[in-house]
Amino acid sequence: MDRQEIVQWLKCSPGEELDSLREKADQLRRLSVGDEVHLRGLVELSNICSRNCSYCGIRRDNLSIKRYRIKTEEVLRCAHKAVKFGFGTLVLQGGEDPGLTKEFISDLILRIKTETDLAITLSLGERNVDEWQEWRKCGADRYLLRFETSNKDLFHRIHPPQEGQPQCDRVAMLKTLQALGYETGSGVMIGVPGQSYDDLARDIELFAELGLDMIGVGPFIPHPQTPLGMKENVKMAAEQVPNSVEMGLKVLALARIVCPGANIPSTTAFATLDRKSGREMGLCWGANVVMPNLTPVEYRKLYEIYPSKAASTETPEQSRDAALIQIKHLGRTPGRGRGDSPTHLEQLTKPIRKEG
Ligand code: 5AD
Repeated sequence: MDRQEIVQWLKCSPGEELDSLREKADQLRRLSVGDEVHLRGLVELSNICSRNCSYCGIRRDNLSIKRYRIKTEEVLRCAHKAVKFGFGTLVLQGGEDPGLTKEFISDLILRIKTETDLAITLSLGERNVDEWQEWRKCGADRYLLRFETSNKDLFHRIHPPQEGQPQCDRVAMLKTLQALGYETGSGVMIGVPGQSYDDLARDIELFAELGLDMIGVGPFIPHPQTPLGMKENVKMAAEQVPNSVEMGLKVLALARIVCPGANIPSTTAFATLDRKSGREMGLCWGANVVMPNLTPVEYRKLYEIYPSKAASTETPEQSRDAALIQIKHLGRTPGRGRGDSPTHLEQLTKPIRKEG
């Protein structure tokens, strides 16, 4: 698929053509990763963030939220809950919080790995190679870092660098993570002000070029306490992509088509914009993963990267039950085991084949 063809899919109107995109993605999903829907228990470790991204509700300059950092013992309780619920993976996500030190995270990984068989996915933003290396040594399996948009100007505008630091290169960081042996995930927001159709098509091409093991996408949701949530600041692209559920679903489908073996979640952004059927629609448009939230309820509403985030008052049990009901309703089955990405497993066996 070339860029022009991707743009055409992104612009196609509801009807037969769009139905065929969904069917193609759903069929490829079934052939490549099957009918199992993997459940990943999500723990939001900290909403403290040293960065000031203009789209994100937990940005440094948002003084209107109460900040928290979870304690190790609390994360361990979440890990045991994940095991009890039959999940194969724990996702540890957080802002770029200097208090989530290399040692704190290393200790957490070691303790989870000692006490459970869970796979561990980290989603802790831009960190040093030294930290990534150490966490990998401790047993972390996967790392998520969305590049957000492949348009460098737009990325730099919405993602200012750390004070006194040069602009970062997330694509180079993803390659570093891959070289360290992480199963590597990335993704973008859809419909950020300033994002054109061509930009978004390029994002999808980049998923394929990077050979991602995991891809997370979701529509941009304006947060009123951020620059991009205030109308007067917003500069649209000439060919602006809408931040709609429909556009998000098209990107999900195209992500599945360009990376058939990737693990692709139906993200919370879809469930937030369409409470009734957002999650299920994602699973019908190419997704094969859901991430029920295991964060203790008292912290959950504080991790507001965008407003009215779905499931922000649910208990972990309710999040699990909702996911299981949706999976059953679609005639799919909850995944068993760790749910590693077939793309990554293929890569691992390559050198062995060569030697043999
Ligand atoms: N709308 C949608 N997605 C957002 N994210 C952050 N803020 C928003 C928002 N306002 C996404 C980013 C980030 C991920 C954790 O959440 O893509 O990488």
